This record gives sequence, C-alpha cells and structure tokens, in this order.
Amino acid sequence: MDQLQRAIIERGSVLSDDVLKVDQFLNHQIDTNLMMNIGRELVSRFQDSKITKVLTIESSGIAPSFMAANKLDVPLVFARKKKSLTVKDNIYSSGVYSYTKQEMNNITVSNSYLSSDDHVLIIDDFLAHGNAALGLIDVVKQAGASVAGVGIVIEKSFQEGREILEKEGYRVESLARIQSLEGSKVTFLEELATK
Ligand code: G4P
Repeated sequence: MDQLQRAIIERGSVLSDDVLKVDQFLNHQIDTNLMMNIGRELVSRFQDSKITKVLTIESSGIAPSFMAANKLDVPLVFARKKKSLTVKDNIYSSGVYSYTKQEMNNITVSNSYLSSDDHVLIIDDFLAHGNAALGLIDVVKQAGASVAGVGIVIEKSFQEGREILEKEGYRVESLARIQSLEGSKVTFLEELATK
C-alpha cells in the first residue's frame, strides 16, 4: 500500500534495528484519512470472508480496526489490557507477553461480545513476535468462534510473528512488510510501485 509506505518513510523514524516510530500517524497522533484507506484496503483483502466482527487490542489497534469494521458494517470489539470497572465476570482472557515492552498483559473480552456464531477478523497495528495476535486468537477460540484471518498495518517481517501464525494455519495480510530497519533505514519486502 503505497500511501502507507510513503507515510512510514516520510513521517516515521527508525529508533533501533528493531523499532520503528510511527507516532505521527498511527501510535499517538492519527491520520484519519490514511486510517480510512487502511481500513478499506484491509477489508478488500478479506472480501471473500463472511466476517461478522472485527477484534483488536487497545490502544493502537483501534483506529485501523474502526475503519475496517465501519466499512464491513460489523461491530468492532477491542480486548482490554487493563481491568475494566464495568466488565468483571464472564470474560475471556489470555496472557500476552510483549517482547518490545517486556511486560505481561492479561487481555480480556466480555463474553457478551463474541459468540460461537462469529467469524472474526483480527486486526492490529504491528506484527512483531505475534503474541498479541495469538492472544486474540485464543480469545476467539474460547468463544467457540472462528478466525477469518489476521490483518496487520505494519509487519516487521524480520521477526517471527507471520511465520508462527501461518504455521498454525492462519491467513495473514499485512499492508506494509518491513524487511529490515538496519542502518536507520526502512527496507520494505516489496518496494513502492511508483517512486
Ligand atoms: P507482538 O504482539 O507481535 O508479539 O509484538 P511485541 O510483543 O513485540 O509488541 C508489543 C507492543 O509493541 C504492541 O503495542 C506493538 O504494537 C508494539 N510494537 C512492536 N514493535 C513495534 C515497533 O517497531 N514500533 C512501534 N511503534 N510499536 C511496536 P502495544 O503494547 O499493544 O501498544 P499500544 O497498542 O497500546 O500502542
């Protein structure tokens, strides 16, 4: 997706060989026009699936998921990382370890919002080691629902997330696939169609 690759190059910055900063349009300030197009593109990649719900994890997964869910005309559910005052009992939960942040999160989703009738598209902003996606898949399984696939905005292809998910049989669609961040430079697996 050229518009996203351009945003990464022009408005992102490489913090280390592992970490890309995209606060300017995705992780802090949100470019709503770009998010709209991201949502549209994610939906087009899964147009052959009869999706009934979009599932993501707070906080940065919400913006692209919102746009996709709106386009699909289905509800968006986000897993919480912090305990909610109002959602207490009857929850699905899964432990998600973040390598990047080196912290454990117990993610939760109320069982009112996922059921065995659902066919779920999982969306997240980044795919690194795959733990967030695996935690969300675990939640979908607890609900007895099925996974349509995993839609990702930015995949760090040099980390093992995609491989793990694909080995488990899940379809992964990523809009930008980063081959390397070495030398403070972003190298994509597929370079821009038009420079
Ligand atoms: P994983 O879920 O694929 O295993 O990834 P990992 O544990 O490494 O990442 C955990 C958190 O760090 C996630 O955010 C993920 O989006 C973010 N992250 C991973 N790599 C990068 C990167 O290169 N750049 C940026 N900007 N973020 C990265 P989170 O904890 O869910 O945070 P948020 O959604 O509240 O922003």
